[in-house]
Amino acid sequence: MASKQPIDYFADFSHVGIASIGLHFPPLALPIVELAKLRNVDPDKYLIGLGCKEMALCPEDYTVVELATVAAKRALSRWQGENKNIGMIAVGTESAVDMSRPLSAWVAANLGLKGAIRSYEAKHACYGGTLALRQAIEWKLAGIAGQKAALVIAVDEALYEQQDPGEPTQGAGAVAMIIDDPVIAHVEPFSYPWSEPVFDFYRPVGCAYPIVDGKFSLECYCQAVKACYQALINGRDPEKVLAEFHALCFHVPFPKMVKKALASLGKLLNWDEEKINNLFKQKVDPTMDWNRLCGNAYTASLWIAVANTLKNLDQDKRIAAFSYGSGFGSELLTLSAGPAAAQGAWAKDVEEDIKQRHYISAADYQALRKRKTKTII
Ligand code: HMG
Repeated sequence: MASKQPIDYFADFSHVGIASIGLHFPPLALPIVELAKLRNVDPDKYLIGLGCKEMALCPEDYTVVELATVAAKRALSRWQGENKNIGMIAVGTESAVDMSRPLSAWVAANLGLKGAIRSYEAKHACYGGTLALRQAIEWKLAGIAGQKAALVIAVDEALYEQQDPGEPTQGAGAVAMIIDDPVIAHVEPFSYPWSEPVFDFYRPVGCAYPIVDGKFSLECYCQAVKACYQALINGRDPEKVLAEFHALCFHVPFPKMVKKALASLGKLLNWDEEKINNLFKQKVDPTMDWNRLCGNAYTASLWIAVANTLKNLDQDKRIAAFSYGSGFGSELLTLSAGPAAAQGAWAKDVEEDIKQRHYISAADYQALRKRKTKTII
């Protein structure tokens, strides 16, 4: 009897990744200083204490459906493939507009996509977009996607109750990615997940806004960063492992959170403050430039940082991407830039949205919050 050949499941792994990216920020923004004025808070608490700058906001008639559709149209318009070759639409969000019908159905309707397509919504707080992306990657790696590509969208509008400590961290945005040939980035097949069932931030059915144990959520986030990075390092020299990466991207609930998480990782590795600060300055802080313009966009936050980092990146340069969703689930992914990353075609989405958006005052913000009757899901 002939001996069985071992199956090489990842034989084709270098051929899967991000083929196109589209972003969208909504048409309104509130400078964080305006919110500080309204709440009678020293602006430096928000600017320095949290690292926030501007908060993207949706007008009352603008939902995650519009956000996701614009981002998807932009990604599809720059993709080399044809819409008829989309075989999966997976939307990660925690701003669902219906308890049953997935957000992907609204987006598919707006894009005119139907047929032999797996269409669904993925939920795990801010981690949902990463789950959608991982599922699309694994669908391609499994060999069952054939020549089809996946449209993955991470989209959210993050709103807290007014005067909640989380209010200055609000934001909104969408990132759409076509998972196909890795012309923009190769997503490496192995990743490092870590989850713990906790109640750090959650929104029970019937509640319009999340219930947040703020300080505990910071601890959970730090715990997740340490666990995922320890798995990546896996007993090797941490300095050598981290030197392999051009940049380290994180989920960005607010920029100071990322700094705190890196500090807790550095402490675990017995690094001194100077070494941690240098790593932050060189490989982390620049990844968050676009996040500072939109605030926390929940599922989209990590992918906004990744998109910002990939633009203009030379081929084969590697980046790490840490995803965190309350509840909590987290996963550390590694990617490398493809040949089209250097062109950074998607940067103009952000430039255009920032140029066209309208900056509102504190009074406008209050009026907007009054008009926005949030659908309770
Ligand atoms: P707080 O209690 O109002 O703020 O809320 P604080 O008193 O802790 O101050 C914040 C920082 O500002 C402190 O710095 C102060 O010292 C500083 P730190 O000590 O932490 O380094 N500060 C000042 N700095 C300069 N000048 C001043 C000044 N005054 C104070 N005058 C909190 C902070 C983060 C708890 C709140 O914003 C919150 O609840 N946010 C929402 C929860 C959150 O974002 N958690 C992050 C981890 S969980 C996560 O990422 C998941 C999430 O995205 C949801 C999902 O997964 O779906 C949120």
